[in-house]
Amino acid sequence: MARAADRFVCQSCGAVYPRWIGRCDACGEWNSIVEEAAPEAVPKGLGSGKGRRVTLTGLDSPATPPPRRPTGIAELDRVTGGGLVPGSALLVAGDPGIGKSTLLLQAAAVMARNGAAVAYVSGEESPDQVQMRAKRLGLADAPVQLGAATAVRDILATFDEGTAPDLLVVDSIQTMYLDSLDSAPGTVTQVRAAAHELIRFAKRRGTVLVLVGHVTKEGQVAGPRLLEHMVDAVLYFEGERVHQFRVLRSVKNRFGPSNEIGVFEMTDGGLAEVANPSALFLSQRSGGISGSAVFAGIEGSRPVLVEIQALVAPSPLATPRRAVVGWDAGRLAMILAVLDTRCGLALTGKDIYLNVAGGLRIAEPAADLAVAAALVSSLHDRPVPEMAVVFGEVGLSGEVRPVSHSDARLREAAKLGFERAFVPATRGRRHDGIALSEVVRLADLVDMLVDASDVRHGVKETDSR
Ligand code: TYD
Ligand code: MG
Repeated sequence: MARAADRFVCQSCGAVYPRWIGRCDACGEWNSIVEEAAPEAVPKGLGSGKGRRVTLTGLDSPATPPPRRPTGIAELDRVTGGGLVPGSALLVAGDPGIGKSTLLLQAAAVMARNGAAVAYVSGEESPDQVQMRAKRLGLADAPVQLGAATAVRDILATFDEGTAPDLLVVDSIQTMYLDSLDSAPGTVTQVRAAAHELIRFAKRRGTVLVLVGHVTKEGQVAGPRLLEHMVDAVLYFEGERVHQFRVLRSVKNRFGPSNEIGVFEMTDGGLAEVANPSALFLSQRSGGISGSAVFAGIEGSRPVLVEIQALVAPSPLATPRRAVVGWDAGRLAMILAVLDTRCGLALTGKDIYLNVAGGLRIAEPAADLAVAAALVSSLHDRPVPEMAVVFGEVGLSGEVRPVSHSDARLREAAKLGFERAFVPATRGRRHDGIALSEVVRLADLVDMLVDASDVRHGVKETDSR
């Protein structure tokens, strides 16, 4: 059969083009278009086959929700919404080397020890390498069935006869391939087709399927984005490789809450759960230094306190540097503009660095006020009161807006011994143990930080202790 013409596929989003282009029109990624063999032609329309009748039911079903399988790792259970759901597919995505294989080997071993039938298929490492890691983690005795394979046909042949495992970990999906397809492993076509076959197997046999997916910047290998709509839940494993903290974040979950986080610490003995992330994120804070503010944030259902650090320095450059780690650069530009225009701070011509300590990524607008506090503190070289937390959203006219869950934020702050909070207008609300400094306009915060005794109009000090 004559081969259909090759086509060009974006390895980031899967868009197809007739010829190569430098930048994908669909997702904006550069250099992500790769030539792939076209799949065999599909007959147009429905053809002549007759369809089967679909059984229709009402919305109310007597079926009980599927029982979950707790993993035995509390942080992982929290992120998945109480454990893994049989017959579902979970994607664990993250940068290479961040600890995905370590986490899943630990979870597999704990579940196997608790009596589940667990299989771990590695397409990247040889059994020796995985065994060595298991030994180092003290998990060598766990009854995990370990295999090295990359052909999906072999994997299905292994597990589809007899009893299917309760948990099947496939590390990683980018190394898997179907021999019926022409494209190389790691291309969009292969990754999609391999995932599809494995997911079908999991649904058919009631197995929990966990796929590992590498996030790739260069687009040489298809990214996990492509799979997000195919699987039931997506967890991103984030962190800076130089930091020991790792955050497991659910971005999609058909069976539970999304945007929940689990916090781990990478140690010599593998990943350790962090039950109290606030204490950990604040552990390296040194008091009395300007340019640092503690943000009382909410991640998923959980309050987390983190330190936000800013450095404002005179710039020798015509276009001063703006560098951000852990926060949105566009949001920083907005806060700088508001501080400049509404509060009269001289920030143009200054290099500005912003860092969320510990490697956490913050997406909440509630961090605006804390970012502003860190910037003002650095600019004027005045420390933010040491035992104070800050949260609130900043609007373009310089007003400070209330944010959700302020009670939970304050409770967490009180629990960790904080005594004061800079917060949006509280409408008379109080909080035991914490003195609330209401900030109505951003300019008020500037006054409060620069001269704590100068309480301007519109700012009330409510001490409820
Ligand atoms: P790994 O799980 O192989 O990452 P991924 O599967 O996401 O590519 O983790 C690799 C890194 O983790 C490696 O740089 C070493 C580090 N590590 C530890 O610090 N302690 C440990 O006990 C283990 C097993 C790994
Ligand atoms: Mg790995």
